[in-house]
Amino acid sequence: MLFLFLVAHALVLQALGKNDWSKACLNGTCSYDIEKGPTTMGGTIEISGSSSAISDITPAAGWFIQNCTSSTNSQTVKLICVDESKGCGHIFHDGAQETVVRLPDDCGSGPFVRVARHWVPDDQTIPSNVSLNLMRRDAIIPQVHMLQLDDDFAQGSGLHGNVSFEARAEGDMHIGPKQRKRQNGSGYDAEPVTIPTNSGYSLLNDELTCSDGDGNTEYNEIGGDLTLNSVTMTVSVNFVIRGTVVPPDITSLSFSAPTTGNIQGYVSLITSLQGSVSALGVELVNIEFPEFVIDGVMSISPSFAISSDSAGYVQKQTYFDAGTNFAINLDSLQFTYPSNSPPATVSITTPSSSYFASANPNENGNADFEFDIYFKIIAQVAAFTQNVELSVTLHDGVANEMDASPSSGNNEEVCFELENSLDLVVANSGPFFQVFIEANSLTLYSAETTILETCQIVALGPSPPANRKARSSVYSRDSVSCPAPEALSQTWLSYSGKYP
Ligand SMILES: *[C@@H]1O[C@H](CO)[C@@H](O)[C@H](O)[C@H]1NC(C)=O
Ligand SMILES: *[C@@H]1O[C@H](CO)[C@@H](O)[C@H](O)[C@H]1NC(C)=O
Ligand SMILES: *[C@@H]1O[C@H](CO)[C@@H](O)[C@H](O)[C@H]1NC(C)=O
Ligand SMILES: *[C@@H]1O[C@H](CO)[C@@H](O)[C@H](O)[C@H]1NC(C)=O
Ligand SMILES: *[C@@H]1O[C@H](CO)[C@@H](O)[C@H](O)[C@H]1NC(C)=O
Repeated sequence: MLFLFLVAHALVLQALGKNDWSKACLNGTCSYDIEKGPTTMGGTIEISGSSSAISDITPAAGWFIQNCTSSTNSQTVKLICVDESKGCGHIFHDGAQETVVRLPDDCGSGPFVRVARHWVPDDQTIPSNVSLNLMRRDAIIPQVHMLQLDDDFAQGSGLHGNVSFEARAEGDMHIGPKQRKRQNGSGYDAEPVTIPTNSGYSLLNDELTCSDGDGNTEYNEIGGDLTLNSVTMTVSVNFVIRGTVVPPDITSLSFSAPTTGNIQGYVSLITSLQGSVSALGVELVNIEFPEFVIDGVMSISPSFAISSDSAGYVQKQTYFDAGTNFAINLDSLQFTYPSNSPPATVSITTPSSSYFASANPNENGNADFEFDIYFKIIAQVAAFTQNVELSVTLHDGVANEMDASPSSGNNEEVCFELENSLDLVVANSGPFFQVFIEANSLTLYSAETTILETCQIVALGPSPPANRKARSSVYSRDSVSCPAPEALSQTWLSYSGKYP
C-alpha cells in the first residue's frame, strides 16, 4: 500500500514537471523539465541515444564542478570526481569527447551540452576548502579533469551515434480588455492591462484644404478609423517537437492552440478627397508572452498581435461615409498543425451588428475601400540554426464601395456595396528543416457576408462655378487631390441597418 502510494506520488511529481537531481542520467536517456511560471512556458525535453552518447556531470553522478558559469553553454570547466560509486566513470565509456552531458542547474545556459574536448590537467591541486568537504571516503586523492563544453552539436562526428530528442511545451495566453482581478487567498493579484476597451486606431488619414468653388475654403479628408470595443482571448499553445540533437535536425513538429475569444470592433470611413491611399502591414498591438527556451537546442516565443491593411481609391467628389460594426465569438477552436489530424474543428458565431453608409456624390464619383484587420496568435520557433513563425490568424475584412453613374435626364444612379469577410487560417511562414518545405497554410473557417447591396436614382443639383486648388500637403505615400467642383446629388443618400 505504501509502495503504491509512493509510486503514485512519484508519477504526480513527474507530471508536474519536476527535475530529479538525485538520479544520474547514465542509461542513454535524460530529461529536463521547466515548470510553467509567470515568465516561462512549462515543458520538458527528453534526449535519448546509446548509453555512451549521454552522460551526467551533476553531483548525482558523483561529480563536483569547481568552476562554471550559467551565462553560456560554451565554457571550460574544471571538475573532480568526488564519489566514484555514483558513476563518474560513465562519461569515459568510448571516450568523453562528443558525449552529450547533463549540467547542474547553475552551470550553462541550457541543460545539455556537448564535450568538445577532455583532458587531465598537469595542475591537480584542489582548493582546500573544496576538497575538505568533498573528498572521497577511501582517502584516495581524486583526479581533476577539464572539459571544454559547448552547444555546437553540428561539430560532432557522431562518434557515439545519434542523440534524439522530444520536447513538449505548453503556455497560456490571456488577452483581456481590462484589468482582471483574481483572488489569491491573501488579496488580489491584478493582471496587466493588455488591450483597453474602446481603443482607437487611425488606419488612413489624409487632409487637404480645398476651395469649394464659391470662393470659400473647406477642410477635406480621407480618413479610416478602427475602434476595438473589446478583445478577449484565451489561448493555450501546445507543441511537440522531435528531432536529433546529434546531428542537429528536426524531424517532426505538432502545433495546437485551443482558443476561445470574443472581439467587438468598428471600422469607419470618411472621404471628401480623391486619389489613392494605402497603409499596409500596420502593427496596432503586440503583446509578448512567456517563452520556452532550451538554450542550444530550441526556443518557442509566443505573442499576440493586431495589424491592419488599408487601401482606398476615390474618383471625383463622393462625400462618402460608412461605418461597420463587427462582432466575432470564437466559441471553440481545435486544430493540430501541420498534420490536421485529428481534423480541425471551429465554431464561430457573429452576433447581429449595425452599419451605416451615406454619400452625396458627383456624377461618375466612386470610392472603393478595403480594411483588413488581423488578430494573430504567433509562435516563433527556433531550433539550432533555423526558425519559423507559426500563426493562427483571425481576419476581419470590411469592404465599402460606392459608385455614381450617369442616368437618364439630370439624374445619376448611386450604388452601394458593403461586405464583411471573416476567416481563420493557421500557417507557417517558410521552410523549417524537413517539417516544412515552404510557407503553407490551412484555412479553418471562411465566410463572406453582403451587408448592403443597393442602387438608387437621384436628381443632380446645380453645378458650382470655379475650379478647386489644394492648399496643404498630403502623406507622401498617398496621392490625393481636391476633386473638381461639379454638381452633387440633390439629396444625401443614407442607409443603416443590421447584419448578418
Ligand atoms: C533510465 O533511467 C531513467 C531514470 O534514471 C529511468 O526512468 C528509465 O526507465 C531508464 N531506462 C532504461 C532503459 O533503463
Ligand atoms: C575554470 O578554470 C579553468 C582554469 O583552471 C579556466 O581555464 C576556465 O576558463 C574556468 N572556467 C570558468 C567557467 O570560469
Ligand atoms: C573556495 O575558495 C575560493 C577562493 O579562495 C572561492 O572562490 C570559492 O568560492 C570557495 N569555494 C567554496 C565551495 O567555498
Ligand atoms: C542519424 O541521423 C541522421 C540524420 O537525421 C540519419 O540520416 C541517420 O539515419 C541516423 N542514424 C541512425 C542510426 O538512426
Ligand atoms: C496575492 O496577491 C498579493 C497582492 O498582489 C501578493 O502580495 C501575494 O504575494 C499573493 N499571494 C500569493 C499566494 O500568490
